[in-house]
Amino acid sequence: MMHRALITGAGRGIGKAVAEELARCGHRLVLNYHHSEDQARTLQASLHGLNVDAVLLRFDVTDVDQTRKILREDIKKNGSIDIVVNNAGITKDMLFAGMKFESWDRVIRTTLTGFYAVTQPCILGMLKQNWGRVINIASLAGLAGNPGQTNYSAAKAGLIGATRSLSHELCARGILVNAVAPGFIDTDMLKNIQIDEKDLLRNIPMGRFGRPEEVAKVVAFLAGENASYISGQVIGVNGGML
Ligand code: NAI
Repeated sequence: MMHRALITGAGRGIGKAVAEELARCGHRLVLNYHHSEDQARTLQASLHGLNVDAVLLRFDVTDVDQTRKILREDIKKNGSIDIVVNNAGITKDMLFAGMKFESWDRVIRTTLTGFYAVTQPCILGMLKQNWGRVINIASLAGLAGNPGQTNYSAAKAGLIGATRSLSHELCARGILVNAVAPGFIDTDMLKNIQIDEKDLLRNIPMGRFGRPEEVAKVVAFLAGENASYISGQVIGVNGGML
């Protein structure tokens, strides 16, 4: 069945791959971006070229009022958002002893306040139709921890907690809430990690980084009808780590 799917931070990386995969599954798309306007427009144009309905919405997920306003307007105009993929995320890596509050706060707000700001306006429509999917892009770091990522690990672990609680609240109403926890995926985010590439690869049993499409396939599965008895779960996509 065709649904409307919102992907935050859809301009590049995993978000872009998720958008393309959900389009392939026949869904209509709502693409959020914050800074990556050119990339988001290019993605929208390529989807339009494939006859996929894709709306672009610019908002900063950490701005609760702005996010709520823009999402409510879109829902009023274009109909309910049935699938939410909370993908927007940032890292600001640094050893905790020297971590500035700004680095702590910005990472927590992007993941956790972002989850609140984006998900809440979409829930009402899902409740009305007794169908919905919330898919949160967490991280291996939120399960296993990672030196230099106390802020990021805390944010992603928090997102996993939110996933489990919201699932308890909603899954009996046909709204399934799950998290995907990628390991090391080859995107712009990986370029910022301050660990030698060879050392990183040594710790991945499959000996390679993941591709954004490999995460997107799992998101698309969770968004679809075949995932009908799965909620409150964290699915690792990590090449055998953990
Ligand atoms: P990326 O840096 O290429 O993409 C992140 C996207 O989020 C960008 O488009 C960015 O503009 C957007 N974004 C950031 N702050 C935003 C805000 N305040 N409002 C709206 N959009 C915002 O990185 P990647 O790898 O594609 O990351 C996607 C998600 O996957 C993130 O949540 C990240 O934490 C998670 N992840 C990535 C891993 C990796 O190895 N690349 C591993 C585990 C999780």
